[in-house]
This record gives sequence, structure tokens and C-alpha cells, in this order.
Amino acid sequence: EEPAQTEEFEAIIARNDRIEPRDWMPAAYRKTLIRQIAQHAHSEIIGMQPEGAWITRAPSLRRKAILLAKVQDEAGHGLYLYSATETLGTSRDDLTRMLIMGRQKYSSIFNYPTPSYADVGTIGWLVDGAAICNQVPLCRTSYGPYGRAMIRICKEESFHQRQGYELLATMMRGTAEQQAMVQESVNRFWWPALMMFGPPDGDSPNTAQSMAWGIKRDTNDALRQKFVDMSVPQAEALGVTFPDPDLRWNADRDHYDFGEPDWEEFWSVVKGNGPCNQQRIEHRKRAYDDGAWVREAATAHAAKVRERAG
Ligand code: 3HC
Repeated sequence: EEPAQTEEFEAIIARNDRIEPRDWMPAAYRKTLIRQIAQHAHSEIIGMQPEGAWITRAPSLRRKAILLAKVQDEAGHGLYLYSATETLGTSRDDLTRMLIMGRQKYSSIFNYPTPSYADVGTIGWLVDGAAICNQVPLCRTSYGPYGRAMIRICKEESFHQRQGYELLATMMRGTAEQQAMVQESVNRFWWPALMMFGPPDGDSPNTAQSMAWGIKRDTNDALRQKFVDMSVPQAEALGVTFPDPDLRWNADRDHYDFGEPDWEEFWSVVKGNGPCNQQRIEHRKRAYDDGAWVREAATAHAAKVRERAG
């Protein structure tokens, strides 16, 4: 590393400017970006599974059309984010193989089952809501392609969050059975949604460096707190409660106090022992294998085109 290059890199970070693909960057900066953006992309693609399971069973054409659009959006988010990762010198194919081999992660939230139709609304409201809390600051992340991908993703996540909330509000105006379905779904997804923000700052090996490099603009705990503060009034408006006896407004802090997530459960799910980890990876592997002929045909066609072009 030339001192001049390091100086230039540090100056760009210090003035909150963007690092672009052709700029010099420390190898560790490149490595942690590939790690985080690839995981983000994997999360979008794996996240299609829990919701996709409800497309054929949606209760109306309108709900089916909305859910189809949302799942297609998630595929698009995966595409933007794999493309951003490829600007760092890795390939989508390598990343997919690392995901399938369990050498790269994806968000823990998608390892929970979606047995109830209300889960489609809860995922939109809470999971996409948490994603918005975490992704809006990423629009200002120091790596150009990542930040620019976030701008469109955040706009589409807002639609995801609104449609989920509206679905639940409709059910809450329905029968007692529908209201119970919503509350049961919220009870299952509340704590896993808090875990989406990552471990407590004190147990986060990447946060300090990611903040120093302007990759992260807020810490895990700060964003988790923001999400709780945002969600409680929405739950009250919906008429549902969160399964946390310690949840209460703290006027001194001007924030909600809330209980401690089960970090044993969190690390167990992250390590692959969640309710659906195996099923999600097997599904992804099947889709990858089933798509091999398309990749081979496209590669053969591209070679012919190059040959003809001489
Ligand atoms: N699920 C799985 N792994 C997690 C995790 C979670 N919820 N939270 C943390 N981890 C992993 C980290 O990846 C890291 O492991 P690694 O070093 O092997 O990558 C380890 O646990 C320690 O966590 P850190 O806090 O040190 O890691 P980060 O600084 O990377 O912070 C993060 C974790 C907040 C998730 C950060 O990576 C991030 O902001 N990522 C981008 C946003 C994202 O991926 N959101 C989840 C996807 S949500 C989504 O797509 C939903 C929507 O489309 C529906």
C-alpha cells in the first residue's frame, strides 16, 4: 500500500465522499464489503421463499398480484446487490456457490416458517420495516455502487411495508379469528425481527471498523432502538401487542425500553440450526441446479456470437 493511496482513501472517507470501483481501497475494506453486500443479496433471494409459498394460496387476486410484485422486487434487489458485489471483483456464481456451501450468510429472519397467511402481512410490516430502518442509512454508505443500489431498494421496501401493514389492518377489521391470526403471527415474528439488526454492539466484531470506514452509519443497537420506537405506535394503531413484558416508554431516555432478545437463539440460527435453514438452502440449491441448462445455453450462445463477430 502506497502511503499516498492510503492518504487519498482516508481523505475520501473523512469527507463522507464515495469510494468508487476503480479507486484504490484497503484489501480489508474490499473484503468486508463483499461480505456484507453478498449477505444482503443472499438475504433478498432467500427471502423470496417464505413469502413465495403463499402466492398460490393468496385469498384474492389483488393480494396475489401484490405478493407477486413484492417477491419479484426481492429478486431485483438481489440482482442489484450481486451486481454491486461484482464491482469488487467477485462473481455472482462464486457467491451463490458460497451461499449454498454455507460459507456465506443470509439474514436469520428467513429461517423462520410462515405457517399462517397473516405472516405475509407481518413480514411486510415488521421485516420490511426493519429492513427500511437498516437500509436508509446504507443509502449514505461510503461505497458508491452499494449506496446507489440502496436508493431504489428503499423506495420499493416502503411499498412492501405499506402493503403488509394494510393487509394486517384489513384483517384486524375482520373476525375475531382473523384478529387472533394477526396477533399469533406478530408474537412469532417480533423477536426474530429485532435480531435482524445483528448482535448487541458489544458482541459485534464488524461494527467499529464498518463505522470507521463509513460503511455503517449507525450501530446495530441504535437501529434496533429506532425500529422499536417506530413500531410501537404502529402496533397500537393496528390493535396488536408485542410479546415483551419489559416494553414501556422511558420519558428520561425519550425511547422505549424493551427486553433482551434471546441471543442463544440468534447465534444458533446464524450458525445454521434455525427452524428452516436446511430447507432454505436445499431449495436454493435445487433452483441453482435446475437453472444450470440456462447458464450453459447462454454461455454457448455468447461464444457463438463472439465467434461470428470474429
Ligand atoms: N442474520 C445472519 N447473520 C447475521 C445477522 C443476522 N440477522 N446479524 C449479524 N450477522 C452476522 C454478521 O454477518 C457477522 O458474521 P460475518 O462476520 O461472518 O459476516 C456476525 O453475525 C457478527 O455481526 P456484526 O454485527 O459484526 O456484522 P455486521 O457489521 O455485518 O452487521 C448487519 C450485521 C447489521 C446485518 C449488516 O451486515 C447489514 O447492515 N447488512 C446489510 C443489510 C442486510 O443484510 N439486512 C438483512 C436483509 S433484510 C432483507 O433483505 C429483507 C427485505 O428485503 C425483505
